[in-house]
Amino acid sequence: MTSDAAIEALSEADARAELARLATEINLADAAYYQRDDPHLTDAEYDALRQRNLAIEAVFPHLKRKDSPSDKVGAPVAEGFSKLQHRVPMLSLDNAFSPSDVYEFVARVRRFLNLKDDAELKLTSDPKIDGLSLNLLYVDGDLRRAATRGDRDYGEDVTANVMTIPDVPKRLSYSSNSWPTEIEVRGEVYMPSDAFAALNQREAIDSGRTFANPRNAAAGSLRQLDPSVTESRSLGFFAYMWGYKSRDFAETQTEANSALSCWGFQTNPLFRTHDSVESLLEAYAEIERQRATLGYDIDGVVYKVDRLDWQARLGFASRAPRWAIAHKFPAEVATTLLEDIDIQVGRTGSLTPVARLTPVTVGGVVVSNATLHNEDEIARKDIRPGDTVTVQRAGDVIPQITGVLDPDRKDRPAPWVMPETCPVCASPAIREVDDKGVEDVRRRCTGGLICAAQTVERLKHFVSRQALDIDGLGTKQVALFHERGVVASFPDIFQLDARIEAAGLPPLSEWEGFGETSAAKLYSAIEARRRSGFAAVLRGLGIRHVGRTVSGLYERHFLSWSRFWETVARAAAEPETEDAEAARAELAAIDGVGNAAVDALVSFYRDPVSAAMLTALDAELDVLDGEAASDDSPVSGKTIVFTGKLEKMTRDEAKARATMLGAKVSGSVSAKTDILVAGPGAGSKLKKAETLGIKTLTEDEWLELVG
Ligand code: IVH
Repeated sequence: MTSDAAIEALSEADARAELARLATEINLADAAYYQRDDPHLTDAEYDALRQRNLAIEAVFPHLKRKDSPSDKVGAPVAEGFSKLQHRVPMLSLDNAFSPSDVYEFVARVRRFLNLKDDAELKLTSDPKIDGLSLNLLYVDGDLRRAATRGDRDYGEDVTANVMTIPDVPKRLSYSSNSWPTEIEVRGEVYMPSDAFAALNQREAIDSGRTFANPRNAAAGSLRQLDPSVTESRSLGFFAYMWGYKSRDFAETQTEANSALSCWGFQTNPLFRTHDSVESLLEAYAEIERQRATLGYDIDGVVYKVDRLDWQARLGFASRAPRWAIAHKFPAEVATTLLEDIDIQVGRTGSLTPVARLTPVTVGGVVVSNATLHNEDEIARKDIRPGDTVTVQRAGDVIPQITGVLDPDRKDRPAPWVMPETCPVCASPAIREVDDKGVEDVRRRCTGGLICAAQTVERLKHFVSRQALDIDGLGTKQVALFHERGVVASFPDIFQLDARIEAAGLPPLSEWEGFGETSAAKLYSAIEARRRSGFAAVLRGLGIRHVGRTVSGLYERHFLSWSRFWETVARAAAEPETEDAEAARAELAAIDGVGNAAVDALVSFYRDPVSAAMLTALDAELDVLDGEAASDDSPVSGKTIVFTGKLEKMTRDEAKARATMLGAKVSGSVSAKTDILVAGPGAGSKLKKAETLGIKTLTEDEWLELVG
């Protein structure tokens, strides 16, 4: 759901609550997309959530959550291909949806670089290809390996398949601009429109199943186990970027683009260089005009700062570069009948209403369901089964309902009402109110582990890449083991063989879809995970508010798994003693951990079913203790304050550099401050730092320290 409230009008409490809600919405959407292969948002809708999150963070930077979705990117690697680590992570792009977003982007770049309004700032434009990004590693001019983006750090090894794509040079050509000894070339694999049409015609005859769009077809073609299948699919490739390089080879994006082309890559013929926003917007209009006849799908235009030294200074915010932006085309719209509203039950019991639609084609894809998020959203849009609704989609995810046609018609059914009990286990489903009196937008099933839907979702989460990462134990297998009654809770996974036997079932190797090899593989993958990391196990428990970030923070703080749980046990003691208070304080004192997480841990521990499960799990697992944080930068873990005028870089740039090096940047001096960087004109902060005996540095000394 995207709330419409003007951000400036939000109170701090509203903003905090909305950031929390957005983090949940985005996490849910990510989980649906990446883990269950069952996305429920359109690109446009997903982008809208992220945009709103960013916009609120921009106005209330101090409320940015430690687990902010703006810091996350990408999809984990799928099964079947081995992982390859990218030398330099593959990030995503921020989006612009309107000319004013583009003006704002360019203004931001100017501010960051401290450029005057009339100083020359060149930018490039080229179409945003709607394909899959690839990372190609060349060593001494030879293609060594190719990987998909994956989770940004690790992608799937698709080298053998990529070798069959004619647009990808196996050996780089010599040119006056010769290639670095080692370089990661990046670009997009796509399926041309005519190849897509021909493939779907063949598929319709051969298998009766067709691909939803060229992007999916390209992805499916690249992920073939047999490279000759990939070869038959006529994939194309455009190069537009690079990752690691052993030396510089260009000064501008424009030069780099020519270099890529000289080395034998296809670069986009619509690539242009500009010196004004107006000129960028003309390019956008021109590319949009040509969109239908290009012969491949594009979903926007990418703008990049031309000078590479400026790109380097601008650097990356956590999820995307500051020097580039994707100006997206508007989403496509259709109308259809909303037949009914179903309820899906998630891992934490949240009930999500899902629209069942009369199938309709939107932007070339047949759509039959869409998320409705929550009851408030349905009420706000006044959506009722039996309505004719407008459906919008962009990209290849499940779409969004944007409105109702003819809401004033006479025979309209009564408004839809969200059930107050769980459709799976019939337990009451409630909307919680937090300690600030804010009501959760989601209704949650209170059945906990008695709810089959929640149990299966929790088990899936526990074994997923987010947590224990047990190879070969995916959504389908977990659901199957649960259905057959052999796995009901986490520890059961480690007793799988015995439990199958006890249930009187044949050995796993005789089950349909398993066989000797995959059963043996699964057992050995499970065995391998008996030794698992602290944060992975904690996260896997699926305790609310104890996600990746909080689990990592606890691992770093406590290091020892048993000491962590001893502390939780003390905090959960009843009646509340002084010792319980002290334990609680230790759990809450970590920067980035909120009271909600501590409350959730305490109630988890107090729940006898969860506590017994934890004991049983501990008996199966050897949880590895955390390692003390490594001190790889001179400022990592330090709190730094900048004051006065900086002359070599803007304040934003200095802060970004410090953050990248693992420091925490604060706006005010206190006893917790480690370093004050003071430029000319520094006043009260400098005085205070001197009184407190805090180390102060000049800008030059700071630069020397951080290199
Ligand atoms: S530049 C740091 N240029 O879109 C990333 N990306 O949604 C710089 N994409 O991850 C990327 N066409 O995979 C760039 N002409 C283009 C692109 C392009 C498609 C992809 C790329 C990126 C994704 C972001």
